[in-house]
Amino acid sequence: MTVPTTGATTATTEAGRGFGIDIGGSGIKGGLVDLATGELVGDRLRIDTPRPATPDAVADVVAEVVGAFGWDGPVGVTLPSVVKRGRARSAANIDPSWIGRDADVLFAGRLGRRPTEVAVLNDADAAGMAEMRFGAPEGRAGVAVLLTFGTGIGSALFLDGRLVPNTEFGHIEIDGIDAEKRAAASAKDTEGLTYPEWAERVDRYLTVLDNLLSPDLYIVGGGVSRKAEKWVPSLTVDTPVIAASLLNNAGIVGAAAAAAEGLAH
Ligand code: BGC
Repeated sequence: MTVPTTGATTATTEAGRGFGIDIGGSGIKGGLVDLATGELVGDRLRIDTPRPATPDAVADVVAEVVGAFGWDGPVGVTLPSVVKRGRARSAANIDPSWIGRDADVLFAGRLGRRPTEVAVLNDADAAGMAEMRFGAPEGRAGVAVLLTFGTGIGSALFLDGRLVPNTEFGHIEIDGIDAEKRAAASAKDTEGLTYPEWAERVDRYLTVLDNLLSPDLYIVGGGVSRKAEKWVPSLTVDTPVIAASLLNNAGIVGAAAAAAEGLAH
């Protein structure tokens, strides 16, 4: 666990700051965000995701993270799930008991806030929102698809910087198989693939997406985007591919922005 340098002394009313939490399969990460620059203010705090990752157990950790910073403003929270008006609608890589849960109401209750002070959104949508605001400017023109490669594949679709939420392109079926089962970063790890072997799968995946969407740009994120030079140059898909610029903290930053802007309500 990283201890936040910001601590409980943080002035929660400081203008221009927000708070985001990114819920993933292995860790729950949160931090204070400077909404003008998209940078974290101080360190983030990461706590292992409880197992099983039931809504109540996860909400306890969310409250612990927010409490550690002494933050009492609006909070943005990501889930690796379709989220519509605060309600989780799918659970590909999280506990199935999330399906149908009003996540905004749950977190608001634990945090002592009104549901309108908590924005819950899909993790890839949050990462994409952060990239649109603070990443490479070319993403803001035309049709851009942000993809996060991790346990699954998350997607966020943008037209001129505006999000079309909950796209779930990681679950497009290719050769009868859910795409993320073959092309997520977790497949590379569990099957012991080299970068070139895995890049071939990603290439095939992007080619299928190309045929469906004809986008102007792919932005690839997730942990593997840190090693983009090992696999992005070998992709042959027609559409340009760039690595995400916010790396690990994109979900936190996007969630904080969503909460500040009230986008989820
Ligand atoms: C989920 C998406 C999520 C992605 C990345 C997929 O399995 O269906 O909602 O964005 O994983 O976490």
